[in-house]
Amino acid sequence: MLHQEKVIILDFGSQFTQLIARRVREAGVYSEIHPCNVDPEKIKALEPSALILSGGPSSVLDQGSPCLDPVYLGWDLPVLGICYGMQLLSHNLGGRVVSSQNREYGRSEFRMIGDAPLWAGVEGAKGGDSITAWMSHGDKVEALPDGFEVIGSTETVEFAAMWNRERNIYALQFHPEVAHTEGGSLILQNFLFKVAGLKGDWSMSSFAEATIRDLAAKVGDSKVVLGLSGGIDSTVAAVLLHRAIGDRLHCIFVDNGLLRMGEREEVIGFLQEHFELNVKCVDAADEFLDKLEGVTDPEQKRKIIGYTFIEVFDREATAIEGVDFLGQGTLYPDVIESESFKGPSAVIKSHHNVGGLPEKMNLKLVEPLRELFKDEVRKVAAELGMPDHIIWRQPFPGPGLAIRVIGEITRERLEILRQADRIVQHELLATDWYRKVWQGFAVLLPLKTVGVMGDDRTYEHVIALRIVDSIDAMTADWSRLPTDILARMSNRIINEVKGVNRVVLDISSKPPSTIEWE
Ligand code: XMP
Repeated sequence: MLHQEKVIILDFGSQFTQLIARRVREAGVYSEIHPCNVDPEKIKALEPSALILSGGPSSVLDQGSPCLDPVYLGWDLPVLGICYGMQLLSHNLGGRVVSSQNREYGRSEFRMIGDAPLWAGVEGAKGGDSITAWMSHGDKVEALPDGFEVIGSTETVEFAAMWNRERNIYALQFHPEVAHTEGGSLILQNFLFKVAGLKGDWSMSSFAEATIRDLAAKVGDSKVVLGLSGGIDSTVAAVLLHRAIGDRLHCIFVDNGLLRMGEREEVIGFLQEHFELNVKCVDAADEFLDKLEGVTDPEQKRKIIGYTFIEVFDREATAIEGVDFLGQGTLYPDVIESESFKGPSAVIKSHHNVGGLPEKMNLKLVEPLRELFKDEVRKVAAELGMPDHIIWRQPFPGPGLAIRVIGEITRERLEILRQADRIVQHELLATDWYRKVWQGFAVLLPLKTVGVMGDDRTYEHVIALRIVDSIDAMTADWSRLPTDILARMSNRIINEVKGVNRVVLDISSKPPSTIEWE
C-alpha cells in the first residue's frame, strides 16, 4: 500500500525496535522496520520521509558488528539515531566511540541542553531541563563528529545527545521509545513534526479506505478463499476483503470438534448476519477426532490437527471454481519475525497451523493486515463497526481444546472441559477482568483425585485454571484475580460440571512455563 509519509526504521537488533515503530504510528505517521543489512536500493524505492536507526546489542568497536551503509547519509533525509544508532552515526561521521567502564542500564537523569527542536515542550516531573531517561549501553561517544553539537548530558556521559543543525541529524544515547523515559513520545513527535516536517495523517480510517481500494485493484475479477477462525485477525481480514470484492470472497470455517461451547454459532452466526459474509461452515469434527484417537503427545496432536486442517480446507477450497487468491490475517509482528535481523527465534511449539496452506494450494496470497500491529487491528475493527465482544475476544489457539485436554482426547473429556471453560468465560465476562487479562481458560488434567460430596466418596477429574496477563504472549504472568472471582469459578465448576471434584490455579509465569499447557 502507498503511504505518503513513511518513516523507515533500520533495525540493529534492539529489543525495543518494535516499540519505536509503534510510537511513530501512534503519532499518526506510518513506519516500517527493515533489517539493517537490507539493500539500500530497496529502502530508496520506498521513498522514506525520515530514517531512524534503532539500538542494538553490538559494539561498533567490535569486528563484524553491524554497520550503517554510508549511502543513507547522502540522501539528505532527517535522521535520528538511538543508542547503538548514535554510536554508528558518530563512528561513520568521524567522531570517537569508546567502551565505558560501566555498562549503564535503567533510569538516568538526563539534562537537555540548548534550543534543539527535539526538546520543544519536553519536561520532566521535577521541572527544569532534566528528564528521567532509560539507558541501556556499554559504549559512549567521547568525541563528536564534525558539524555536531552536544544537546544533552548525564552525570556519566557528556555527549548523551547530539545534533547536526545543517544536516538535520540527531542522535540520542537513551531510548525515547520506552515508557520509562519522561517525554519520550513527545521527543519522537518533535522529530517527526518539527524536524522532519511531517503531517501525521495516517489513521485507521484512512488505512481501511485505502486497503479496500488496494484489495479491489489487486484481486480484480478473481475470487479469494479465506479460512475464518473466529479470531479478530481473520475476521477483520475477511470484512476488509468483503467490502472490496463482495461475495467473491469465500470464507471457510472448519469446525474441528475442538471449539469452545457455542463458538460456532456465536461468532460465525454473527458475522454472517451482521456483515453478510459468505461463509461455509464445514463440520469436520469426526475427521479430526478420529485421527486424534489415542494420541497423547502434544506435538503429535498439533501436527495431526495442522495437516487435517489443510486437507479439509484444501478440499473445500478447490471445490470453488475460479479462486486465484488465499486471504490470510498475517500481522506485522509475524512479518518482522520472519525477516528479523536476528533471524526467526527458536520454535518452542509448532504454532501457525495454517503455515503449509499457500504452498499446497498454489494460490497467490492477499494479506490485508500485514502492516499492522494487533492493537491497530482492533482499531480497524472498530472503524468497520464491529462490536466489542468481537474486538476484544481473547486469543484462542488453532489446535483449540486439544491442547487443553491433557492426555487423550475423547468426546466425553472435551465436553467436561467445555462446560468448565464456559464457567471461566462467564465469570470473567461478568466483570471487567475479561478485558484486563490476556487470556483465561480451563485445562482438563489427566488424573483423578478423591473428594467427598454429601456423604459419598468421589473419584473424579481435576480442572486447572490458567489466567494470565501479557502484552504480546512472548512473556506472561499469572493474573492476580480477586479471590472472590476465583472462588466463584471453583464453586460453580465443582457444582455444575459433572465429573469434576477439584479445581486448581496455575501460578506459573512464562517463561519458564508457557501459556498453554501443551
Ligand atoms: P504459548 O503456549 O506458546 O502461547 O505460551 C502463546 C500464545 O499463542 C497461543 N497459541 C497458539 N495460537 N496456534 C495458534 O494460533 C497454536 O498452535 C497456538 N499455541 C498457542 C496461546 O493461546 C497464547 O495466546
